[in-house]
Amino acid sequence: MTMIKRNPSFELKKHLSSNWANDDAFLTAFFNALSISFPKGEKFFMNSVRAFKDEVNTEMSEEIRMFCIQEATHTREHIKYNKLLCDLKGYDVDQLESIFVKKLEKSYSPKVDNKIRLAITTAMEHITASMGASMLKGNLIKSDNPVVDMWMWHSLEEVEHKSVTYDVYKAVNGSNRIMRIVMKLALMDMIHANTRVTIKMLRQDKQFWKLSTFKSMFKFFFSKKGALRSNYADYKSFFDEDFDPNAHGNDLDLTPWKEKYRFNELIPNK
Ligand SMILES: [Fe+2]
Ligand SMILES: [Fe+2]
Repeated sequence: MTMIKRNPSFELKKHLSSNWANDDAFLTAFFNALSISFPKGEKFFMNSVRAFKDEVNTEMSEEIRMFCIQEATHTREHIKYNKLLCDLKGYDVDQLESIFVKKLEKSYSPKVDNKIRLAITTAMEHITASMGASMLKGNLIKSDNPVVDMWMWHSLEEVEHKSVTYDVYKAVNGSNRIMRIVMKLALMDMIHANTRVTIKMLRQDKQFWKLSTFKSMFKFFFSKKGALRSNYADYKSFFDEDFDPNAHGNDLDLTPWKEKYRFNELIPNK
């Protein structure tokens, strides 16, 4: 799939202090927490794939370069998002970020080699691409505002580069068994950290002890139509013998989204 270098900017200030996701305090806090995870998380993804840039062919090393350009732009925009969010809401960005950093530290340990780091990244890229596709299909967020626009742009690029780290992992003979083991561990860590940050935000906003928040949380985690269960088939496909992100989730037409963000392109296709 073609990765495109875009240079977007979003007017978030008016909306970040509100419940910008479906006017739902839990969903808004969940996505705001996810945003806090990105700067350090995406840096890890970039480092882990860049470590193999000299071990793959020219075409693949160009894909790594484009992957890193897209992730670096996500990081740049999420740093702005996080700063604005924390200024508006009075959150302590370092304290919230440290919850994710503690989980990431395990992956930076000397006991974990470059190939395992790439396996972790490949697993997480499957999650971000599946979640991104679900968002582009309108399954998670129904609101229309600049914050949602930013998430949709990020989702589009996650789907565009969904196969890069997997292709590199396969090219350097990464083991399927390791990839599947780390998926379970890394995803559990991610859900645990994100839920902790979400709860901290809701408590600070005095939204935690509310029936509407509990209802939304319950729906998200446990209902058939909630985000977790409705995306379970995508998650499970990662464990299929013939799993290949290149062949996965191609029922989604990205054309309208590519059109929507076309004006932000820097250099088409390169
Ligand atoms: Fe990203
Ligand atoms: Fe990504």
